[in-house]
Amino acid sequence: MDLQQMDEFAKKIIFEAGSRIRQAFSYNLVIETKSGANDLVTNIDRETELFFIEQIKAFDPTHKILGEEGMGEKVETLDGVVWIIDPIDGTMNFVKQHRHFMISIGIFVNGVGKLGYIFDVMREDLFYGIAGQGAWYNDSPLRKLQAITMEEAVIGINSHWVAPNRHIHHEKVIDMIRKVRGTRSYGSAAMEIAFVVSGKLDAYVSMRLAPWDIAGGIIIAQEVGAIATNLHGGGFDFLHQDTFIIANPAIHRELLEKYIVPYE
Ligand code: IPD
Ligand code: CA
Ligand code: CA
Ligand code: CA
Repeated sequence: MDLQQMDEFAKKIIFEAGSRIRQAFSYNLVIETKSGANDLVTNIDRETELFFIEQIKAFDPTHKILGEEGMGEKVETLDGVVWIIDPIDGTMNFVKQHRHFMISIGIFVNGVGKLGYIFDVMREDLFYGIAGQGAWYNDSPLRKLQAITMEEAVIGINSHWVAPNRHIHHEKVIDMIRKVRGTRSYGSAAMEIAFVVSGKLDAYVSMRLAPWDIAGGIIIAQEVGAIATNLHGGGFDFLHQDTFIIANPAIHRELLEKYIVPYE
């Protein structure tokens, strides 16, 4: 497996997909809902996923593609080379703001994350990581995360979890908000993960993410020492949805023990 060659190819198609998405704003978006009124998908999400599938299959027909919009084959195992793709992460931002959305891609070889990409389409900013070789933000290497305290931390969290909910003890989340320097909510899991691995946020928490939301980010995370687990502290299952936390290594444990505490 030539990681170098695969990395060059992945970057090429990510930049190309980005430019196609930017051009799409000059014609009409077709917006539909999926599981509910706030779960949006557009023709561009689907067209971008199809573009990736066609390009990857032409590059190597044995590679498998697990994409959010389900335009590829059914992927039931991580055997072989599997690309896990979110063609647009932050579709609501894409529709509403025309910015703050990412392409997220993780490439796994026999279940091991090898190449991870998060691309900010409108800023043309690429965060990426190559297993065992490091991580970069465009041309600059990303540093290992430096230790911080809870008092210094800025945490990415959705405001839903501050209200009573069936997932976590919301009063502990309020304690966390009082303790930390600040909280943020960007509306794109991949963007928030990209911010954690580059030290612009110190943690990001979600009650339900899918493999394509985190696959790119988790590979970059390994290279900078960010810790990513589910809310029980275990590994994320790349074929199903799960809870998720990614954090600076100095505060990951404290967050799970004191502040982000799931029921059961
Ligand atoms: C969503 C975004 C959002 C997160 C949701 C995801 P999508 O992805 O990442 O920030 O809160 O859980 O589903 O649907 O825009 O690709
Ligand atoms: Ca979606
Ligand atoms: Ca997503
Ligand atoms: Ca998506």
